[in-house]
Amino acid sequence: MKILVTGGSGYIGSHTCLELLKMNYEVAVIDNLSNSKKTSLKRVEKITKNKIDFFKVDLLDLKKLNHVFDKFTPDAVIHFAGKKAVGESVIKPIEYYKNNLGGTINLIEVMKNHNIKKLIFSSSCTVYGLPNKVPIKEDFPVSAVNPYGRTKLFIEFLLQDVSQSDPNWNIIVLRYFNPVGADQSGIIGEDPNGIPNNLFPYITQVAVGKLPILSIYGNDYPTPDGTCIRDYIHVSDLAFGHVKAIDKLRKSSGTNTYNLGTGKGYSVLEVLSTFEKVTGKNIPHRFVKRREGDVSASYSDTTKARRELGWKANKNLEDMCKDAWHFQSLNPRGYN
Ligand code: NAD
Ligand code: UD1
Repeated sequence: MKILVTGGSGYIGSHTCLELLKMNYEVAVIDNLSNSKKTSLKRVEKITKNKIDFFKVDLLDLKKLNHVFDKFTPDAVIHFAGKKAVGESVIKPIEYYKNNLGGTINLIEVMKNHNIKKLIFSSSCTVYGLPNKVPIKEDFPVSAVNPYGRTKLFIEFLLQDVSQSDPNWNIIVLRYFNPVGADQSGIIGEDPNGIPNNLFPYITQVAVGKLPILSIYGNDYPTPDGTCIRDYIHVSDLAFGHVKAIDKLRKSSGTNTYNLGTGKGYSVLEVLSTFEKVTGKNIPHRFVKRREGDVSASYSDTTKARRELGWKANKNLEDMCKDAWHFQSLNPRGYN
């Protein structure tokens, strides 16, 4: 089976390409390399001793996108490509709408023209907005608190409309909780541009000496230790979730939505102490005021993914910390 992966050289995309090649899928990647390097895929090829067809193409370039589908006619598409920085989306909303929505509309159009109607889309737990309770189920109300989140929500609506317009479409929406860590080889991992916004890459960059101190955003939340609780999920578990979703695509119809998380929540301080215990590194930290838009606790109900995809996360917080550090320590300057 041939799978086309948009945004495949990025963090989650490269780990998913690795899992797909391990399962003997034929894989091609479209990426404009705006937030990644081709090195990630070179390394995936090295690990698996398999080839990936790479197309440096922007999804906004309809003509080139068509060419890719003429050359590599996939059976299904996994759509990761998109901009994902929440803060940046507030400053540059038009860029986010243009790239994320425009790119998805082009992709759907080209897929339709080539009669390819199997799609997996990367959504996010951000579509639950400020949830009233946890664990979060797929049928909880959706909303968005920033332009990035709104692009995910609009794309979800768009995909529902597309599958309602034509019963031959078969779409799976995966709502990721907090993907972290790296492949256990330490060869591929997360390599964000500039100063990381997210907790794990920030911690590993403090540990490697690139950043001096971790600022913890708030210790006055209504949680046992006052810091926010999140559902961190190992990126390799998440990547394997896509393999299971492809299995499901063969038998399902319409649009189906699944949470991909572990179902367990950990506070920032629990993450920090686990990281320090597993790696033996001391992480200097201080408490600062809350970050705007943060919810106090977010974690998934994983029942639907277990039941319908036959998937569950296997790796624990210690594995996530160990593997994130393994990649960072082997690659102190990321892929550079
Ligand atoms: P990433 O930035 O590492 O990967 C996204 C890739 O898409 C990059 O390689 C980038 O160069 C590419 N890209 C962006 N716009 C493009 C365009 N117009 N044409 C072609 N390529 C383009 O991000 P990631 O962490 O791997 O996330 C993958 C997807 O999962 C994104 O859609 C993101 O919104 C979603 N997601 C990520 C997280 C997370 O915490 N990492 C959580 C929930 C959802
Ligand atoms: C991020 C995204 C969100 C996405 C979610 C799931 C941002 C701002 N939000 O949110 O859109 O849906 O991942 O993938 O990127 N923290 C610190 N210090 C730091 C960094 C983070 O204390 O330097 C805290 C945060 O306040 C939060 C926790 O660590 O409580 C996790 O933060 P982060 O990794 O940014 O993830 P989310 O806040 O869940």
